[in-house]
Amino acid sequence: MKIFSLLLIAFITWLDCSQAHIANMVCFYDATNTQKDSMALSDLEPALHYCNYLVYGYAKIEPANLLQEPSKVLVDASTGRDHYRTITNLKSKYPNIRILLSVGGDKDIDLNYLETNKYLQILEDGNNRQAFVDSAVQLLRTYGFDGLDLSWQFPKNHPRKVVSGFKKVWSTVKGWFTSTKKVDEKAEEHKTQFTQLTHALRSAFNLHGYLLTLTMLPNVDPELFIDIPSVIEYVNFVNLCTFDFQTPERDPKIADYSAPLYEMYERDPTHNIEYNVQFWLNRTTQAHKINVGISTFGRAWMMSKDSGITGYPPIDDTSGAAPLKNSTANLGLLSWPQICTLIHADKDLTGEKAPLKKVGDPTKRFGTYAYRSADDNGNYGIWVSYEEPATAAIKAGYVHARELGGVALFDLTRDDYRGECAGERYPILRSIKYKL
Ligand SMILES: *[C@@H]1O[C@H](CO)[C@@H](O)[C@H](O)[C@H]1NC(C)=O
Ligand SMILES: *[C@@H]1O[C@H](CO)[C@@H](O)[C@H](O)[C@H]1NC(C)=O
Repeated sequence: MKIFSLLLIAFITWLDCSQAHIANMVCFYDATNTQKDSMALSDLEPALHYCNYLVYGYAKIEPANLLQEPSKVLVDASTGRDHYRTITNLKSKYPNIRILLSVGGDKDIDLNYLETNKYLQILEDGNNRQAFVDSAVQLLRTYGFDGLDLSWQFPKNHPRKVVSGFKKVWSTVKGWFTSTKKVDEKAEEHKTQFTQLTHALRSAFNLHGYLLTLTMLPNVDPELFIDIPSVIEYVNFVNLCTFDFQTPERDPKIADYSAPLYEMYERDPTHNIEYNVQFWLNRTTQAHKINVGISTFGRAWMMSKDSGITGYPPIDDTSGAAPLKNSTANLGLLSWPQICTLIHADKDLTGEKAPLKKVGDPTKRFGTYAYRSADDNGNYGIWVSYEEPATAAIKAGYVHARELGGVALFDLTRDDYRGECAGERYPILRSIKYKL
């Protein structure tokens, strides 16, 4: 009898645990994009059925006193209403969603402060850290957020340089050349101080039941700045921005897959999702706190006449970001519906309107790309690496198989929220959610 009840308890516990594994669907909503694309709040709502967390970006840090403030972007342009409250008011309609405010996100650029990184300045001084913690608590409470996401703007890795033409590197010299300039001379101190900051935030947030999360922005090296075993204890989860490994901005002359799942032949071995996930898993047992980032946008380079006509990456001799009509202010960045439109353009169109040729990935390891080689005059060439519903589903399947925490989507405003491509709204978000 006793054994039976013990077994029963064990069984119930097992049942509990297996049910407890519900993958996170973390949806980033970058309000700085909606100003350009006039995405309305009603466009956001259909997504909320699929998200467990809505992360609203991005709060800035006020340089003068180092406190966060609801800056201009956070006022609703159409209604003039305070955007923070508009967003947190959604909780009454969608009570199961937790809504976080994110700070940083590579969006907090202050031209007066380019020389000095204010995110590092906050870390460097105990009083600044405390002021930041206090202002965070106050802000979350005033506006009714459920927590804070730290999309902390650490210095990024330098792009790895190719010394004498990339063909040489790929065919003969097997290896990569990193700039010898250090990313951050005081990285070791900043790492310790960031642990202190997350610890202080955790202690303050515990009193209020607030969530604290960390987002690792693209090309930030966790080895330099994050004491993983400590920090992971203080945060509810970590979102890894496992995309933008290759971008036209960082690598103007070589186009390549920007967010491969696995390592590619003769490429930088760190430029893939698997490496980055494994890096964290080697340093913590808390796999359920790791969310893999999937982007809803693609990266587009201009192909030159010397880039060839096969489209097979890596593409040599590209000339930086593709300047595209109707694109957002970000050169070389295309949302999924924009890419979908370019692929499905009328076959009779020519020049800058001619359709791109899509090339899928039967191996399901690297991703999809589309291209249009340059014409005889060297015009209209373009090569785009991008995510589509099918490739996003493959990554979600990987997250599921590795029993990770879930997926963080970057972001809702660049998914097809109007359903222009295939009639269905938020196709990338849905295909991820379906796989989780
Ligand atoms: C993880 O640990 C294994 C075993 O020690 C090692 O072979 C691998 O290179 C490590 N990977 C990363 C990304 O740290
Ligand atoms: C660009 O915008 C114009 C006007 O809004 C539209 O007619 C055209 O189809 C768009 N082109 C692309 C490639 O999206």
